[in-house]
Amino acid sequence: MSRVALVTGGSRGIGAAISMALKEAGYTVAANYAGNDEAAAKFTAETGIKTYKWSVADYDACAAGIAQVEADLGPVDVLVNNAGITRDAPFHKMTREQWDQVIGTNLNGIFNMTHPLWNGMRDRKFGRIINISSINGQKGQFAQANYSAAKAGDIGFTKALAQEGARAGITVNAICPGYIATEMVMAVPEKVRESIIATIPVGRLGDVTDIARCVVFLAADSAGFITGATITANGGQYMT
Ligand code: CAA
Repeated sequence: MSRVALVTGGSRGIGAAISMALKEAGYTVAANYAGNDEAAAKFTAETGIKTYKWSVADYDACAAGIAQVEADLGPVDVLVNNAGITRDAPFHKMTREQWDQVIGTNLNGIFNMTHPLWNGMRDRKFGRIINISSINGQKGQFAQANYSAAKAGDIGFTKALAQEGARAGITVNAICPGYIATEMVMAVPEKVRESIIATIPVGRLGDVTDIARCVVFLAADSAGFITGATITANGGQYMT
């Protein structure tokens, strides 16, 4: 029986590449998504990967969605907390709603997804939790007080939970992508984007597969000694 992996935000962008790479590596994959039915249907048609709709910002929806995935595919061994949104604005213009939305999805979302799965992983003495944080959680970013706070929080969550999971065979790690060529980054005004690319030593945006390969590495059964780690894949833009 192949291991089961659940990828949030798994039908588009970095998440889609992660879902496909895990499938290629032999996992049975479930891809969660929040809203874009058309993209999810296209993704399933092209890849054969099942998609499941719920918002990671909603705890009860996560618990119900996970129960459905486990009924269909079996216990989840690998959770990739990838779902994320931006609501960029300089702080003097940032609204309470923009703050709450980003914290709700990018930080509360990883609690909401990990918590319902945690005891099952403890009982089975195996788990892989992989949290997709961001370079901007490490260095901060103008107009992203909300996003940087959430993504830094994801790293703290990772380090705390890694200590709790260690004796139970559960590893908890974070990956910090830099600027990757996705819809999210393409939404940044072109001039601003060009100025950001100028600060990336490799001289280009990353590719979604640059992140997916890190996930496959951390998900492996043989990666059991790697926990509480933060892997950066940012083209050298920020070196920690
Ligand atoms: N540092 C200092 N000043 C900056 C700045 C920066 N990085 N970026 C913008 N500014 C300044 C501008 O020059 C401008 O100054 P003036 O008023 O003196 O001209 C001011 O800040 C911005 O004013 P605006 O009224 O134009 O701002 P706005 O409300 O229209 O917001 C913005 C524009 C949202 C800040 C836009 O510039 C933007 O999207 N910036 C990019 C933010 C970013 O990098 N987001 C990352 C998205 S990708 C992602 O998040 C994925 C990941 O994990 C890496």
